[in-house]
Amino acid sequence: MEEEQVIRMDLCSSGKEKPQSDQLAFGRTFTDHMFLMDYTDEKGWHDPRVVPYEPLTVDPSAMVFHYGQSVFEGMKAYLTAEGDVQLFRPQRNFKRMNHSNDRLCIPPIDEAFALKAVKQLVALEKDWIPEAEGTSLYIRPFIISTEPFLGVAPSSHYQFIIILSPVGAYYKEGINPIKIAVENDYVRTVAGGTGEAKTGGNYAASLKAQEMAEEGIAQVLWLDGVERKYIEEVGSMNVFFKINGKVVTPALNGSILEGVTRNSVIQLLKHWNVPIEERKISMDEVYQAHKEGTLEEAFGAGTAAVISPIGELVSHHEHLEINSGQTGATAKRLYDTLTGIQYGKIQDPFDWVEKV
Ligand code: COI
Repeated sequence: MEEEQVIRMDLCSSGKEKPQSDQLAFGRTFTDHMFLMDYTDEKGWHDPRVVPYEPLTVDPSAMVFHYGQSVFEGMKAYLTAEGDVQLFRPQRNFKRMNHSNDRLCIPPIDEAFALKAVKQLVALEKDWIPEAEGTSLYIRPFIISTEPFLGVAPSSHYQFIIILSPVGAYYKEGINPIKIAVENDYVRTVAGGTGEAKTGGNYAASLKAQEMAEEGIAQVLWLDGVERKYIEEVGSMNVFFKINGKVVTPALNGSILEGVTRNSVIQLLKHWNVPIEERKISMDEVYQAHKEGTLEEAFGAGTAAVISPIGELVSHHEHLEINSGQTGATAKRLYDTLTGIQYGKIQDPFDWVEKV
């Protein structure tokens, strides 16, 4: 059996000023330290270390800058009322990271070791976990290709990095319903593309539509890239619609990211005996349900977004107000239960919580 690598600790003494936990935005401040690990074809993944948070030194010809060979993940550490620190289903994030790695021709990471690295880093930065309601320490593991080479091929050098950021709500609306625009011109990805991998290019490709969307739009809703008919996801979250008592979410089809929160929502709904269907759902079906008065709720689910009720859905020719622009009962119950489990306020019947 291979000997487990020891994480070298190179710590800094002077702490940065911590932001006020009730005034946190998303992803603007970073903690004192980060985790780094290198890969070369000769040595494999090696030299795991925790070092002061600082700019990286990367060659301008590093392949990531030119061809975008990179992947990332997003998870959170939560502080409980008792002062314990917990993660939420982190194993799924590293499993998904390896799935993304495979798609981007990046060598796999040791998932158990990556979890150990997260725990060690989060434990070190425990004082950075904010305490205000709805805040947490966002964890961003990512891998970049660092070989200095301009040929189009998989890199032979990589860096695996984990940074931490104390965060508040992802959307400026907080937990209030957001306005989403149906995207009819651009597509995010197609089946066979990179849609189900968590790679920066998918997000870069989404910016134009977001920029073109009207004022007040939080995000755009992507439709399938072939028929431009079926709902896919929002980019920062998966989506759910409650129609006539049943919750429907687009089935995973190769171009939709398999969200950890998405999976948790499905499991919770099944646990509560709320009908939940994973299937194709078209915008026409949503328009029709709205017309008939059976569109009860719409909401998004993601690590950063948690559960985000959708109060308005707009497109070129339709403007739907959903549940009078208010948070629906299902979204509220899901939000309360998920955050209750994450912050250790309610019992975790699924064994989702991982103590640090
Ligand atoms: C997350 O929910 O953690 C994500 O990675 C989405 C990101 C666009 C903020």
